[in-house]
Amino acid sequence: MRDQSSSAKDNQNPLQNLDQWEEDILTRYPDPKNINADKKEEQFRNYDETEKDSVKEFYRLNHTYQTYDFVKQKKAEYLKFDKQEMPIWSAFDFLNKLVDDSDPDTDLDQMQHLLQTSEAIRNDGHPDWMVLVGLIHDMGKVLCLFGEPQWAVVGDTFPVGCAYSDKIVYPEFFSQNPDYNHEIYQTKLGLYTQNCGLDHVDMSWGHDEYVYHMMKPYLPEPGLYMLRYHSFYSQHRENAYDHLMNEKDHEMFKWVNLFNPYDLYSKNPNQKSWAELEPYYKALVAKYLPATIKF
Ligand SMILES: [Fe+2]
Ligand SMILES: [Fe+2]
Repeated sequence: MRDQSSSAKDNQNPLQNLDQWEEDILTRYPDPKNINADKKEEQFRNYDETEKDSVKEFYRLNHTYQTYDFVKQKKAEYLKFDKQEMPIWSAFDFLNKLVDDSDPDTDLDQMQHLLQTSEAIRNDGHPDWMVLVGLIHDMGKVLCLFGEPQWAVVGDTFPVGCAYSDKIVYPEFFSQNPDYNHEIYQTKLGLYTQNCGLDHVDMSWGHDEYVYHMMKPYLPEPGLYMLRYHSFYSQHRENAYDHLMNEKDHEMFKWVNLFNPYDLYSKNPNQKSWAELEPYYKALVAKYLPATIKF
């Protein structure tokens, strides 16, 4: 039996790398149609039992420690944006350090995932701010480099301060969360009111919430929704939190749903080189963002 007090001894980073979480999402939500017509199935990674175990352990930690108080504490800590100031290009270099060289299957660094997402969006003729969203949507993963454990950076996000939906992956692990027995937090609406709107709802802490706040001054609202809720699978895939959503949220989630397949299914082995793409992206970033961003 696992003792809750043994948490300090837990390995806080059970995933080999952050991509393992995303690979797991693909097993839950496989690609219904090929975004990249030229990809071949064998070019995608096989997902074995050991990986499944580490993903499960990752979710056990995530569901155990993402409490309402934890979220409030991380927001207070990170939304001051006093950690570092840098151009987003430095943030990408920073992100590429997250690649685990010991994993022979990881041939993609974070920058490649970002570019593949943004290029797939661009190829489909969507507005340029959405291409930019594709490029920066995972930039919040720099939280890892500020010392945050994997379970506080990635993972499906969910509202805190109200009952956990059984549509969230591995819902059984929530029984270990201190909020699980909280009188108010575990009622259906918890701290919130019927259809109050997600603006009033605190989500579990991670790269989505962080990058949303960072980009708030610079992007149109649909783009901000894409950033903030791109890992909120229990809503955008399962509609588990309609009771907290208002009409505007539903309208905006059409954009989140539009974005999601580009995040999940845009792997492309024939990606253009950075040298070729650089002029376009340098101009795009300069159009919307200041020279440096506060992290
Ligand atoms: Fe993400
Ligand atoms: Fe992503």
